[in-house]
Amino acid sequence: MTRNDDTLMLRALRREPVDRPPVWLMRQAGRYLPEYQAVRKQAGGFLAMCHDPELAAEVTLQPIRRFGMDAAILFSDILLPLASMGMELEFQDGRGPVLPKPLRSGADVDALREIDPSVDLAYVGQALHATRAGLDDEVTLLGFCGAPFTLASYAVEGGTSKSHAHVRQLMYREPNVFERLMAGLAETSGRHLAYQASQGAQAVVLFDTWAGTLTREDYVRHALPWSRRALEIVGDAAPRIHFVLNGGHVLDDVVAAGSEGVAVDWRVDIADCIARYGDRVAFQGNLDPSILLGPPELVVERTRAILDAVGGRPGHVMGLGHGVHKETDPACVAAFVDTVKAAAPAGVGRST
Ligand code: CP3
Repeated sequence: MTRNDDTLMLRALRREPVDRPPVWLMRQAGRYLPEYQAVRKQAGGFLAMCHDPELAAEVTLQPIRRFGMDAAILFSDILLPLASMGMELEFQDGRGPVLPKPLRSGADVDALREIDPSVDLAYVGQALHATRAGLDDEVTLLGFCGAPFTLASYAVEGGTSKSHAHVRQLMYREPNVFERLMAGLAETSGRHLAYQASQGAQAVVLFDTWAGTLTREDYVRHALPWSRRALEIVGDAAPRIHFVLNGGHVLDDVVAAGSEGVAVDWRVDIADCIARYGDRVAFQGNLDPSILLGPPELVVERTRAILDAVGGRPGHVMGLGHGVHKETDPACVAAFVDTVKAAAPAGVGRST
């Protein structure tokens, strides 16, 4: 099969002129979809779905069939590579991820294994192939992984945390241990992204959910170098989208880290981001996912507002500022996607 390198999404990431921005959503596959719930029940749980390439492909394709997004993000999770490194990992209903033996010492960190994704995460490669087989060639297939600071946060806290007290203790009190951990995680992330690119992912996303909680100084010193390392390992194997949730204060640094795309959340003005950095990177975002909890008319209004503010300038991928909430009405996801797809070409027939 020949690969389509000129999809709408890839052209937007190259900042070429396009008739309308491509659109996809973080967590577009998931619990808000009844068909996802059905597969999850049949599989017997979230991890079982991730490990089964056919089921992972099926839930990846579900939102594409229903809504027609321009990109499909492989159904998987950022925490799976931690399991490959030797950590126990569970997903408990209602509690999210749990790592029952968190890393707290130099010995814990040194016991982690180096991974070879083509062996340890081969099921991810198989799921990418199975997904591609079910996708139209206009739809861009995305791979992803967690950024080192976010992975460290789960590995050291043992799950989702509000204060991140343990990872900060390690970072400030045992900088050498923290650095060894981050160096290992950067290799894991970079290799996993490169592996996904080699198995058909046409662009890759580096998710940094927690580094935005750091001060700019700490972000630059303790998180950014390792994200940059992961991105460097990918190199030009696939265009890279770098997302730091709550990262408005470090946007200069994220842009400078080196990626083709930067995803931003709803706390920043995306038109302003494009005006400031649009000659260097494409931007993805940035509707607040909470807007999808309102009525479809609100979704249409707020989506149009973003499209109008960007005004058809090249280098925009439409998306949410974070993942779809599980309480979301699928009709609101449809309203979002349909509004973007109905957007008039730049400058032609725009009402405002
Ligand atoms: O559709 C997609 O976006 C692709 C699949 C995807 C999942 N997780 C599936 C998932 C992606 C890209 C992720 C990334 C991920 N996972 C991140 C980074 C992005 C972000 O959301 O900030 C993080 C921090 C995780 C870790 C994680 N996995 C958490 C905190 C949770 C619990 C969240 C919740 O809403 O309960 C998960 C579980 C998870 N990953 C679910 C899904 C669909 C829910 C699983 C279920 O119970 O069915």
